[in-house]
Amino acid sequence: MSIKIAGTGSYIPERVLTNADLEKMVDTNNEWIVTRTGISERHIAAENEVTSDMAAAACRKALEAAGVDASEVGAVIVATCTPDYTFPSTAANVHRKLQMSKAFCFDLSAACCGFLSALETGTSLMVANKKYRYVLVVGAEKLSTIVNWEDRSTCVLFGDGAGAILLENVDDGSDSGLIASDMNTDGNWSDILKLPGGGSVNPASHETVDAKLHAIHMQGQETFKLAVNAMVSACRKVEADAGITISEDIKVVVPHQANIRIIQAVAKRLGITEDQVICNINRYGNTSAASVAIGFDEAVRTGKLQRGDLALLASFGSGLVWGAQLVRY
Ligand code: ACO
Repeated sequence: MSIKIAGTGSYIPERVLTNADLEKMVDTNNEWIVTRTGISERHIAAENEVTSDMAAAACRKALEAAGVDASEVGAVIVATCTPDYTFPSTAANVHRKLQMSKAFCFDLSAACCGFLSALETGTSLMVANKKYRYVLVVGAEKLSTIVNWEDRSTCVLFGDGAGAILLENVDDGSDSGLIASDMNTDGNWSDILKLPGGGSVNPASHETVDAKLHAIHMQGQETFKLAVNAMVSACRKVEADAGITISEDIKVVVPHQANIRIIQAVAKRLGITEDQVICNINRYGNTSAASVAIGFDEAVRTGKLQRGDLALLASFGSGLVWGAQLVRY
């Protein structure tokens, strides 16, 4: 069996929030944000534009790129930590918006590593059951709704957007789609990056709102240190398992866009050139589960990644969950 990437798509909301805009909101400055994070601007969804709208827009583009009708899709997995609601799933809302007559839809929660987790899950679903000829794997976030806009240490980092890949079971024996992966979790680090409010631990109340528990809480430096080691070790594991040499065989590496210094440190340790790394953090900031999906779509649409090329995806995020995946486009 072979699962190919039939099409890719992404969606970035129109409104741009620049570092200069943030200077007017919190005690920060463009120089600090650019040198410490690599971010110059990020896009923020309109008030009435929700996560499933962005996910649906990215899916539409992936379907168009593949020439496939929404009615043919067998499953949709939306990775997000900013769902439309706790339930129904954001994926069910995508189902409604695209009028997918036969798709089985669900959300997946793995924060910034959500898209890789969805790709792993979607591929496994197709391997397990041939009735899934087309599966959409999506990363979509409206992080602007869970940012504390008074906390300068986090509000400068995040943006909104969505990306999608349409997987197709071509069943022709070709070596395509997800070829090798190394996915991991260490729940012992679950406290360093979390949204404390709104779940069963701290159900929503006036107190949780007053204490700003419905916003991202992050120990930045701890996360930074773990991120580099985690992504490099997952990439090396995939390299060994697949019998490839990253610096020679990989056309592009698509890392999670959390901080330019993390991306550069990972690239250095993998011995790859700047040209091999997809980097759009300066324009979009950290879009969590959408980040690798958006980067992958950009690699395809800019021609950096051609049919037959190998790409290495790498991500980490709250959980901690981290991983790397070798993909042939
Ligand atoms: N503007 C100006 N100064 C700031 C800002 C800001 N926006 N934010 C923090 N500072 C100050 C701090 O107060 C501190 O000042 P002090 O020295 O007087 O105490 C100083 O800058 C240094 O702060 P640090 O937190 O040590 O800065 P650092 O270099 O570690 O950068 C950052 C912080 C950008 C958050 C970095 O640690 C990072 O990128 N961490 C990883 C984030 C990440 O990858 N998250 C995972 C994904 S998110 C998810 O899964 C949902």
